Amino acid sequence: MPFPTARPRRLRASATLRRMVRETHLRVDDLIYPMFITEGSGVRNPVTSMPEVHQFSIDEALKEVAEVAGLGIPAIDLFGVPHEKDLEGRHATAEGGLIQRAVREIKRRFPELVVMTDVCLCEWLSHGHCGLVRGESIMNDETLPVLARMAVSHARAGADLVSPSDMMDGRVAAIRQALDAEGFEHVPIMAYSAKFASGFYGPFREAAQGAPQFGDRSTYQMDPANGREALKEALLDVAEDADIVMVKPALPYLDIVWRVRQETHLPVAAYNVSGEYAMLWAAARAGWLELERTMMESLVGIRRAGADLILTYFAKRAARLLKP
Ligand code: PBG
Repeated sequence: MPFPTARPRRLRASATLRRMVRETHLRVDDLIYPMFITEGSGVRNPVTSMPEVHQFSIDEALKEVAEVAGLGIPAIDLFGVPHEKDLEGRHATAEGGLIQRAVREIKRRFPELVVMTDVCLCEWLSHGHCGLVRGESIMNDETLPVLARMAVSHARAGADLVSPSDMMDGRVAAIRQALDAEGFEHVPIMAYSAKFASGFYGPFREAAQGAPQFGDRSTYQMDPANGREALKEALLDVAEDADIVMVKPALPYLDIVWRVRQETHLPVAAYNVSGEYAMLWAAARAGWLELERTMMESLVGIRRAGADLILTYFAKRAARLLKP
């Protein structure tokens, strides 16, 4: 229609009108808060590259969880920062292990909160890779039973959902089978289906102390250039009966979020990763961006691209702004 007949600005004239025609909504219920759990007591170590993010010992984590639950955030995702690592991942699967204890303590005090756990070996293996290693190669099939044992030990501790982030082939099926065999057929799996070999994980590697000591993760995480392959990965996880599929990182991969959304009926999650968080903070500290404005714009953008759920270190700040 020629000017001036078409006037899209009519619907932008007042805040109330804009509210009425708003297409995408970010809700507190969309947010999942990742947390780093470490040994000891009274520990609350700030992560330098991630302002407002800490590694917590279990007792301190409980205080943080009280705040998170108080803000109405429905779920947390626990990552372990253990003191002891080995070549087999024994500490990752132990009944009395760090994450297993954390889950028990948190679920005892906050039974309503959804407690998710990260299932990946990189923080628990001395070489920092996500799978068992022979020479310099990351072994796929040998890793699967360890991941399955890890997931079962989390479920036994009371985890509401397990979330494999390792990118080994066939891990969703292996974990599903093991959970079912142990009577945890009700525990859902959120699969990191399209996890890219990304530079945006940099600050996380400080937070979780799981940087690989040789080589990189490009033999298991995906090439940032590949979109069709991301759909293949997502559909494989759907076929293996994943309950939620995830794309990670979020902002540089919104096209993938959109395409995965079109391909499956499952809920889609996106991980707004450590580097995306650090980037906004750094620019805000330099006075170049407004933190909360760009944070909310990023989160709404991830929702608009098709994500139902967002894992984000901004969860607490966003929840405060979303409070009615
Ligand atoms: C490890 C893992 C990583 C992240 C989540 N799980 C790092 C990696 O793969 O190197 C990244 C999260 C973030 O950057 O916020 N399997």
